[in-house]
Amino acid sequence: MSWKVLITARGIQTAGEQAQELLRKAGCEIIFPSKFGPLKADELTHALAGMDAVLASLDDYSAPVLSAAGPLKIIARWGVGYDSVDVAAATRNGILVTYTPGLLDDAVADYTFALLLGVARRVHEAQAAMERGEWRNYWGDDVGGKTLGIFGFGRIGQAVARRAAGFNMRVLAHTPHPSPEIKGVEFVSLETLLEESDFVSLHAALTSSTRGLIGEPQLRRMKRGAYLINTARGALVDETALVRALREKWIAGAALDVFAVEPLPAESELRSAPNILLSPHQSSYARGTGERVSLAAARGIVDLMQGKKPGNLLNPEVFAAPQLRARLRE
Ligand code: GLV
Repeated sequence: MSWKVLITARGIQTAGEQAQELLRKAGCEIIFPSKFGPLKADELTHALAGMDAVLASLDDYSAPVLSAAGPLKIIARWGVGYDSVDVAAATRNGILVTYTPGLLDDAVADYTFALLLGVARRVHEAQAAMERGEWRNYWGDDVGGKTLGIFGFGRIGQAVARRAAGFNMRVLAHTPHPSPEIKGVEFVSLETLLEESDFVSLHAALTSSTRGLIGEPQLRRMKRGAYLINTARGALVDETALVRALREKWIAGAALDVFAVEPLPAESELRSAPNILLSPHQSSYARGTGERVSLAAARGIVDLMQGKKPGNLLNPEVFAAPQLRARLRE
């Protein structure tokens, strides 16, 4: 048996040797798209034609794309967020969806701190000045002992909190599911978190209730000396309001790894906003993590190909569904 596996997750090319080997040894033909995305609906529909499986970046797996996806049996998300996949539509179409929870928490939490420290201590501005041949100092803000507000307190938010303890920070968290037994964290309302934090770091999933949650009223509620850090999803934030907040100094700065539209358009006003540190959605790009995530996603595909139930399924009921069973026999 041979399966055609589309790989849209760019990281696998450079941190996925073992994953590619696993797929090839199992008899898969690997296909990379002509450009890496995330792919838009029309590009993805085209790229998915004739594919049995996809090892997926944050492409647009919306209902029309999935109903046109012929023999597709599994979407294996390279990563932990699955807001780009209409899981209900995948289920209706008999397509399994896997993801890789728990493998990239430390990498994302480390990177969150890299951004937090970088923007607060203006490391990127010093680097740019050194490149221009200058020698000058930039005053930043203290981090140790300050208050960190974590919005969304799942695995990654908790990994950020553990790091904050080492910086002797007061940690506030806002989540619909507080865990009061976790020591050293105060669970508070979003309003209190925004008002009392020196750093607000976003770690919530993107859902209909979190989309645009950090807008003008929330940014105005933050301290004038506070920083916003986002390594979760760009669409949690109203980016137009954030540009104003930075220009008009409602807050001191922001560090963003994620954007409402990715790749971030060249003409985005975020690119020229003051006191901002930007990176291209790379918080999980730590090599060991990348290898592990690639391998876990690939293993799900190979498991299904060999008749086994993959781990970390978002719609496990599809495994026994007649639609999938029929496709597996084709
Ligand atoms: C990355 O953004 C992920 O969802 O893991």
